[in-house]
Amino acid sequence: MKQIKRIGVLTSGGDAPGMNAAVRAVVRTALSYGIEVVGIRRGWQGLINSDFVRLNSESVGHILARGGTMLYTARSEDFMTKKGREKAVTTCKMLGLDAIVAIGGDGTFRGALELSRMGIPVVGVPATIDNDVGCTNYTIGFDTACNTAIECIDKLRDTMQSHERCSVVEVMGRNAGFLALYVAIAVGATAVLVPEKELDFEKDVVERIRESRLAGVSHFMIVVAEGVGSAVDIGKRIKEELGMEPRVTVLGHIQRGGSPNARDRETATRMGFYAVNAIAQGRFNCIIGTKEGGIVELPIEEALQMKKHLQMDRYKIMEAMQLGTKMETILAED
Ligand code: F6P
Repeated sequence: MKQIKRIGVLTSGGDAPGMNAAVRAVVRTALSYGIEVVGIRRGWQGLINSDFVRLNSESVGHILARGGTMLYTARSEDFMTKKGREKAVTTCKMLGLDAIVAIGGDGTFRGALELSRMGIPVVGVPATIDNDVGCTNYTIGFDTACNTAIECIDKLRDTMQSHERCSVVEVMGRNAGFLALYVAIAVGATAVLVPEKELDFEKDVVERIRESRLAGVSHFMIVVAEGVGSAVDIGKRIKEELGMEPRVTVLGHIQRGGSPNARDRETATRMGFYAVNAIAQGRFNCIIGTKEGGIVELPIEEALQMKKHLQMDRYKIMEAMQLGTKMETILAED
């Protein structure tokens, strides 16, 4: 087995609270194995541009609680080209990197797979507020992002209640509805629209507001996953169909910021630790994931083919919590 002397660590794609905690765990675990660590700045683009910083135990001090990523991040178009990846391989050789720990989402791991095919060993650590990585139950940043969205929506509810209004809130999640559905349950939304469920506007929005109103409710909270479309358009349709004047809020990038909460700090630390453990023990080209509370390692190629489905029972539970909802209607959706 080749002795591992030096590894690189990078964060790529959209940032997520807890990325710093993962970087810290990678660095401190590697150092305890006697492995040196080079931080690659600005994700895969940094590997192309040889944009690096040497990391020691102190360089990752006081970052555990910090949002964002101290290594910066980027979405690299150059890395999608063969020429770009060849430059990245040259950087790895020049810096003497025996492996790379790549922290990010699916896009990051597709890049990792390409790099591994060019002979650079890689281990992936899933971090994205979307929680849409198939091979892991959980991605770093999801819980903090849910809590940020909840905090904002709780505030919105105060004013919606006072004015007896309808609020339409757009949350992130790219093409997945995990963030929207978890948040909708946690704020007691009137309705949630997710990309995994084909939209039936009359049934999913109009009827839900109507039933709620008939049950005595005078303010309404509609959560829209960005993958469904624009909350502004949903607001317009509500106005047309029900004659209300909804207020639309797009939560946007605020959901990606903030100090990571306990779950994200703890998960990131464990994932970073296990990523380096795998490398130190000669296991590469895998992604670290969580399953039933424990940690798993899956080959990148297999991991990228895995699909994670939105648990539609959660959708029904959310509906069942609304005043005026009839269980027979919920069950009829099967
Ligand atoms: O993948 C994380 C995410 O925040 C998605 O929820 C969102 O669609 C996207 O990134 C936004 O990307 P950008 O920061 O490039 O606008």
